[in-house]
Amino acid sequence: MSRTRWKAASRAVLALTGAGALAAGMAMVLVTPASAGTTLGASAAEKGRYFGTAVAAYKLSDSAYTTILNREFTMVTAENEMKIDATEPQQGRFSYGSAEQIVNHARSHGMQVRGHTLAWHGQQPSWMQGMSGSALRQAMLNHITQVATHFRGQIYSWDVVNEAFADGNSGGRRDSNLQRTGDDWIEAAFRAARAADPGAKLCYNDYNIDNWTWAKTQGVYNMVRDFKSRGVPIDCVGFQSHFNSDSPYVSNYRTTLSSFAALGVDVQITELDIQGAPANTYRSVTEDCLAVARCNGITVWGIRDSDSWRSSQTPLLFNNDGSKKAAYDAVLAALNNGTPPPTTPPPTTPPPSDPPPTTPPPSDPPPTTPPPGQGGCTATVTVNQWTGGFVANVRVTAGSSALNGWTVTIALPSGATVTNAWSATNTGSTGTTTWKNVSYNGQVGAGQSTEFGFQGNGTAGSLSPTCAAG
Ligand code: XIL
Repeated sequence: MSRTRWKAASRAVLALTGAGALAAGMAMVLVTPASAGTTLGASAAEKGRYFGTAVAAYKLSDSAYTTILNREFTMVTAENEMKIDATEPQQGRFSYGSAEQIVNHARSHGMQVRGHTLAWHGQQPSWMQGMSGSALRQAMLNHITQVATHFRGQIYSWDVVNEAFADGNSGGRRDSNLQRTGDDWIEAAFRAARAADPGAKLCYNDYNIDNWTWAKTQGVYNMVRDFKSRGVPIDCVGFQSHFNSDSPYVSNYRTTLSSFAALGVDVQITELDIQGAPANTYRSVTEDCLAVARCNGITVWGIRDSDSWRSSQTPLLFNNDGSKKAAYDAVLAALNNGTPPPTTPPPTTPPPSDPPPTTPPPSDPPPTTPPPGQGGCTATVTVNQWTGGFVANVRVTAGSSALNGWTVTIALPSGATVTNAWSATNTGSTGTTTWKNVSYNGQVGAGQSTEFGFQGNGTAGSLSPTCAAG
């Protein structure tokens, strides 16, 4: 990472030297702020994130391709070269040539590697497609053990299992030969991967799990919650995030990322492409990742549109000629702006404006530790409801004086139960619930806001929170 940053910095100096020479005699040279990165990787690194791309081994001899790859990216995913058909083309005969080309390129250029993927119904070699039952289960576990052991110590995170859930409204598993070996195939895969490479983060990866209201998203969420509660070794969830008109970006994406993160896993955007590459949508996705502390980074599924598996949708950040698209500028700017302000709308009722005091205020010096705010506070809530569950995001806004601690009370309708919460601690999970600040968000400046949230089962209805200082 530091190597990438150093390279970015030295390039910036060279660029400035050139500009300075050209601009000799001019009063001012336009520069970006010293802290702002000039490449996706360097700017993401400044925010503690990576920025990655899918890479195809056969393109590593294309210098137009590698110029962009080496300049912009700090993480790579093999687009096809680590899939089962590539790494075990015949049972028990492993082939790592093209995967190693990618790993070696990455490592020699200071990039990390996401491994993709150890167990999947897709791109299976024909010998595996024809297997079933315990023979298939055994073959899957052997494959995971062999491949994860081969690359041990070189992989940042593995997509251990890919695309195991069904599309549509069932919220259940997809039928496949692996699924037919028994429901526990996924946890068995994670355990085998952990044993083989204890240093890699182990991810479940899928598409169409971006929209928080979709049954498939909830199905995966419930699996991860179950895995965490039973100690199955899962560390992260990969959101492929192939956005198009059938599966568009939605503003609850941030709720999805933060809700999964609240289960105690990292989240990663693993295969991002967006039909038509609208700059605003790319910006929103970037801001959503930055807004979630456990979002490790973003990987786009290819560099130029011509590299995309969906070229005709022109969904990537670079044109075919290698030039940057508007979406690129939007992503870079979002990375450089850092964590964006919350998008929750401001309270609809204005905070109480205290009447001016009739007697002049006492001229005592201000106390050194602020007392609980005298100006009170307000709380507003936005609820994302789906059949059988909801997420509530609560915004606490200080009144005319700063808060030194706050308490929010929310009456839940009968049948609604809190199942988890973030950025506040609660007393009660049904009926009248009371929420207190945690250590890092109790002090809120006059007129300023902070947020907390919780998730529940049942129906939240329209909630009316009240807020008190202290
Ligand atoms: C795609 C590759 O981009 C194509 O080159 C290949 O022909 C098919 O697979 N979800 C995944 C990726 O997890 O592995 C897929 O990659 C895209 C969808």
